[in-house]
Amino acid sequence: MSPTSLDLPNLPTSVAGTVHRPVLEQEVLTLLAPRPGGRYIDGTAGGGGHSEALLAAGGQVLSLDADPNAVQRVRQRLLPFGDRSRVLQSNFRHMATVAQQAGFIPVDGILLDLGLSSDQLELEGRGFALMADGPLDMRFDPSQPLSAADLVNTLPEGELADLIYTYGEEHLSRRIARAIVQARPVEGAAHLARVIERAVGRRGRIHPATKTFQALRIAVNDELGALQDVLPQAAALLRPGGRLAVISFHSLEDRMVKQFMQREAQDCLCPPEMLICQCGHVATLRLVSRKPVVPSAEEIARNPRSRSAKLRVAERLAG
Ligand SMILES: C[S@@+](CC[C@H](N)C(=O)[O-])C[C@H]1O[C@@H](n2cnc3c(N)ncnc32)[C@H](O)[C@@H]1O
Repeated sequence: MSPTSLDLPNLPTSVAGTVHRPVLEQEVLTLLAPRPGGRYIDGTAGGGGHSEALLAAGGQVLSLDADPNAVQRVRQRLLPFGDRSRVLQSNFRHMATVAQQAGFIPVDGILLDLGLSSDQLELEGRGFALMADGPLDMRFDPSQPLSAADLVNTLPEGELADLIYTYGEEHLSRRIARAIVQARPVEGAAHLARVIERAVGRRGRIHPATKTFQALRIAVNDELGALQDVLPQAAALLRPGGRLAVISFHSLEDRMVKQFMQREAQDCLCPPEMLICQCGHVATLRLVSRKPVVPSAEEIARNPRSRSAKLRVAERLAG
């Protein structure tokens, strides 16, 4: 018999091979309301915390992650749930194909918990962490062709500055890009962090390279492109009444999710001056929460990485 949340051993998370704490876990459970036997896709398995919670509630869960190391860890962690759990390595931008091939449609709920996990940041020398020695890689999926080092060492200065400005929302992007180009070849994560610190100085507690690292990660993994691709697929995979929950940590992601959900929750998308609808658009979703759900002060105190999280949930309409 598969375990429930009550008989899971209460081990420290590192025993399960992960240091990642799931963000907004209770809120996700309340809003996805998993039911025994229901089908759920966790598109960002990470350390497996949310997948485990959905399984503990009795669901069947298809967990995806682009990162093969995460997949290995999560497979191990979810072994006790037997064939109610399937863990596959895939970018979630292929979710429709993967779910179809796995015979896992339609689904009752889909979760996307975007970005990177604490495991990637803390356990592995893959260039995500600022001061870590090791290569400046940052690929979730190491089989992808471009690493962060490729971008940093080959992009023209103007393009590098634009990338840092757009994805990092870093207003010192031009100065940073100039310093990077002058320091080429940049040999690793710690080297890049030092170059940026020398270029812009240090104020406050947050390292001055933080936004640049975020920008490079988003670009290397085409995180916004993947999100854009998956949202319509996810909505189409849901059965009527099924719910899509997305946790984002970045304003560009949150805006994309918000605009997608709002658009899909509206019948006609014609400009207001049109008296008769020409577009024929029919709402497919209902917004479950108009405002994003954010972590409580207690959660932020317990897990500071949750502080910028925003959860949006929409429900598939019938028809
Ligand atoms: C914030 S963590 C998820 C944590 C997870 N919810 C948990 O409770 O442990 C995000 C994970 O999503 C993965 N990821 C990010 N973008 C992805 C994509 N486009 N396709 C598949 N996995 C992705 C990352 O590799 C990372 O492991």
